[in-house]
Amino acid sequence: MPLKPCFIYSIGASSLLMLIIGIALVLSNVFPNLMQSLVKTEVVLRNGTDAFEAWLDPPAPVYMQFYFFNLTNPEEVLKGERPAVMEIGPYTYREHRPMEEVVFGSNGTRVAAVNPKTYFFERNMSRGPESDLIRTVNIPAMTVMERFKDNKVAANLISAYMLSQEIGLFTTHTVGELLWGYEDGLLKALKVVDPNLDDNFGLFYKNNGSDDGEYLFFTGQQNYKDFARVDTWNGKSSLDWWTSDECNMINGTNGASFHPIISKNEVLYMFSSDLCRSLYAVYTDDVIVKGIPGYRFAPPFEVFANLTVNPANTGFCVPAGNCLGSGLLNVSMCKQGAPIIMSSPHFYQADEKFVKDVFGMRPKKEEHQTAIDINPLTGIILQAAKRLQINVYVEKIPDFRQAENVPTVILPVVYLNESVLIDDASAKKLQVIAVQKNVVENIPFMLIGVGIILGGIFMFLMCRQKLPESSAAERQPLLSS
Ligand SMILES: *[C@@H]1O[C@H](CO)[C@@H](O)[C@H](O)[C@H]1NC(C)=O
Ligand SMILES: *[C@@H]1O[C@H](CO)[C@@H](O)[C@H](O)[C@H]1NC(C)=O
Ligand SMILES: *[C@@H]1O[C@H](CO)[C@@H](O)[C@H](O)[C@H]1NC(C)=O
Ligand SMILES: *[C@@H]1O[C@H](CO)[C@@H](O)[C@H](O)[C@H]1NC(C)=O
Ligand SMILES: *[C@@H]1O[C@H](CO)[C@@H](O)[C@H](O)[C@H]1NC(C)=O
Ligand SMILES: *[C@@H]1O[C@H](CO)[C@@H](O)[C@H](O)[C@H]1NC(C)=O
Ligand SMILES: *[C@@H]1O[C@H](CO)[C@@H](O)[C@H](O)[C@H]1NC(C)=O
Ligand SMILES: *[C@@H]1O[C@H](CO)[C@@H](O)[C@H](O)[C@H]1NC(C)=O
Repeated sequence: MPLKPCFIYSIGASSLLMLIIGIALVLSNVFPNLMQSLVKTEVVLRNGTDAFEAWLDPPAPVYMQFYFFNLTNPEEVLKGERPAVMEIGPYTYREHRPMEEVVFGSNGTRVAAVNPKTYFFERNMSRGPESDLIRTVNIPAMTVMERFKDNKVAANLISAYMLSQEIGLFTTHTVGELLWGYEDGLLKALKVVDPNLDDNFGLFYKNNGSDDGEYLFFTGQQNYKDFARVDTWNGKSSLDWWTSDECNMINGTNGASFHPIISKNEVLYMFSSDLCRSLYAVYTDDVIVKGIPGYRFAPPFEVFANLTVNPANTGFCVPAGNCLGSGLLNVSMCKQGAPIIMSSPHFYQADEKFVKDVFGMRPKKEEHQTAIDINPLTGIILQAAKRLQINVYVEKIPDFRQAENVPTVILPVVYLNESVLIDDASAKKLQVIAVQKNVVENIPFMLIGVGIILGGIFMFLMCRQKLPESSAAERQPLLSS
């Protein structure tokens, strides 16, 4: 039965039409753009959006893990030998970190908030109890010695007092005390002279349940790239610890949120109050976390590199001109004058010298780098680990008997790994979005596919339509012969 030619031609025409529409849609990028503008209007800090809810009280559990360095050879170090340490950890705390005192600006472009963090010890995710003992450098004593090292009279008096009280350069305290605070004998004695002094010391003393200052964030309403970007911190739009304007800039978000629609060649800025500076991360790998595609961003070597590699880091040398080398940051001024030096754990990406100066350092990229895995469409963090090491600058100070022979060394005290993995409920939502994105983005290709199939049918029908006539024409002579 031959088909009606008008039917065959309409198949041909629809095939052509679908091909043209499909190709036009692919070329004009309509559906991906549509998806992106949807996301852009949804990812805004506005009462009622999912993004606001997640920013207000992050659903994924954040864990803070501490790895201490137990000093094994204090006597030898006092005589000038290289320190040897043993890594002990983790001691794990779960963080509760909601945004509080949230106040929107009148036109919705900015929102003020504080971000207090409360820490809960997780015994069964820890190596031991908080009462484990750690021997490390006596940070209050080192701070006092640094402060009075150029004042011979005071130095001799304090040194004599320390001797009488058996306060040395090294001390043993529990994990809980080192982190959350203990009363220090030397500080207590000095308080008699200087009543403003706090006689408690702890690396995270008074940090439990308290915030790191008031933030003013952009909401992302005007520009999606400004989502959760820090405008001011404690009322200031820049820092004053560093010696150049670029280094003092407060750039990017607080590292807990990122704007949507992230591309691979983007530079993600973030401000870290722990580190007392802003830094940035760049794309390194494609990752898949709980079935969701993501980009891994990590701070490149240049961020903490020396001046030969990155001249812009001049401003991080304090006091001006006093540079410590790659991988180290002197944060003394932002830690009440304590001789604290920040680095990556085990001096990862720092000068080889610092690794060699302390026996027991073994830098490894997988364990010690800071990395953030982000879903590029929504900007949601799939997985992240912020890793920092707190070191003390120990130096020979002739006027203190306690430090007259020690080697000058950057001594690691503890490193921390603050990590998060997306919770299952948020992951499910993201998987749905990923599927929707795939479907929507594939509509043009489906049109093209259907167009090609129809085209095939059209050809087939055209050929079959002609076949009976031609075969009849060809066969007739054969039959007659
Ligand atoms: C958000 O809206 C709810 C109800 O409309 C209100 O109770 C809440 O206080 C609002 N939150 C903020 C931060 O304005
Ligand atoms: C919103 O208010 C801020 C000050 O609170 C002002 O700087 C900004 O220009 C305003 N934006 C718009 C779009 O009105
Ligand atoms: C922090 O404070 C909360 C309550 O305010 C308390 O339950 C928790 O044990 C404290 N954490 C530490 C490490 O002291
Ligand atoms: C770990 O501790 C939590 C409570 O803090 C408890 O619910 C859980 O069962 C413990 N897990 C193991 C494996 O002991
Ligand atoms: C750390 O070293 C001290 C002194 O050697 C020791 O008493 C303590 O048990 C060590 N800590 C741990 C957790 O092994
Ligand atoms: C802040 O960002 C600007 C570019 O916007 C850059 O020049 C500067 O170095 C950055 N500062 C820090 C500390 O990251
Ligand atoms: C800076 O670091 C590079 C490579 O890490 C090294 O080759 C160079 O000698 C260092 N420069 C200084 C001044 O230490
Ligand atoms: C770190 O900075 C402080 C304050 O500017 C300074 O006194 C100290 O000497 C610096 N430490 C080192 C090791 O350069």
